[in-house]
Amino acid sequence: MPVITNIEDLRVLAQKRVPRMFYDYADSGSWTESTYRANEADFQSIKLRQRVAVNMENRSTATTMIGQKVAMPVAIAPTGLTGMQHADGEILGALAAKKFGIPFTLSTMSICSIEDVAKATDGHPFWFQLYMMKDRDYIARLIDRAKAVKCSALVITLDLQILGQRHKDLKNGLSAPPKLTLANMINIASKPRWALGMLGTPRRQFGNIVGHVKGVENMGSLSEWTAKQFDPALNWGDVEWIKQRWGGKIILKGIQDVEDARLAVNSGADALIVSNHGGRQLDGAESSIRALSAIIDAVDSQIEVHMDGGIRSGQDVLKAVALGAKGTYIGRAFLYGLGALGEAGVTKALEIIHKELDITMAFCGRTDINTVDKTILLPGTF
Ligand code: GLV
Repeated sequence: MPVITNIEDLRVLAQKRVPRMFYDYADSGSWTESTYRANEADFQSIKLRQRVAVNMENRSTATTMIGQKVAMPVAIAPTGLTGMQHADGEILGALAAKKFGIPFTLSTMSICSIEDVAKATDGHPFWFQLYMMKDRDYIARLIDRAKAVKCSALVITLDLQILGQRHKDLKNGLSAPPKLTLANMINIASKPRWALGMLGTPRRQFGNIVGHVKGVENMGSLSEWTAKQFDPALNWGDVEWIKQRWGGKIILKGIQDVEDARLAVNSGADALIVSNHGGRQLDGAESSIRALSAIIDAVDSQIEVHMDGGIRSGQDVLKAVALGAKGTYIGRAFLYGLGALGEAGVTKALEIIHKELDITMAFCGRTDINTVDKTILLPGTF
């Protein structure tokens, strides 16, 4: 076993252990992947100010997101097909998040169902991410299911009414469960840990969907499936309908533009997530970290602002917080840990990011994450 000291080590191990189709799904951006790359690269150009001879004892990264206590301003992002990166992946992610004291967000497109995750985590509240589909009865039932297990926030994704093209998914014929073509069988044969895990779990298809939507037994290809089921007509009126039905905390995911940020404020949501879906939708969109400041200014503290996209280290989290994000989300960093080492890998990813955040904050002369602001950044670099 290699010594794991950073998120990149987990990515390399996940690439070895997860079948190509699912690793590629997690690791892809849309079309040229320019936005996917910009999400990571733009963090690098923001520079921190080193301070010295400041008392660095008694540090804390604890804060709140939508009023809920978090051990650090990091939540696990909703990611599709997580239970295909590792058997029972959503359950393992939720358990690791619970033990660490951060929120876990379950995707509509998860393999483990809402009920399975609630049972495995002993009713510990998690967040549920909702995709709007054409079948509104199904969506109403899905909202009710999330309510029944006491999910403590609903994350409505607004940037995936239609799917951005990810070349690798089409080339790999992405589906869940994978079709047993010769190429897939050869690839899976070289991933014995993954295959053994999958043989040991009954959870191999979309747990929130199969058996709940009429006529859906199998997803077929992801692109065909989303084109058939997802609602391209989603609009702010639907957000209001969801809000009424849900009655709890709402987080709007996928805001990149100041006009949309203002509409999000008007919708009465509790938070918005500055996000370009990890560079998986509009290729050519600005990176999330670059889009953040204008949105913070536009909403003028009327709504909590979170961000995702490109977070691979605690330094990235610190920069996002310095620019005004009340919280951040990890998607790929979480999946790399999961694919590499299951629950222990997710815990490792969280420990790595926490340690980087804690120590880097101290180097910048701060001991409490709640005091971090733009003054820790080098002027002219953000
Ligand atoms: C969402 O489900 C995605 O594939 O990005």
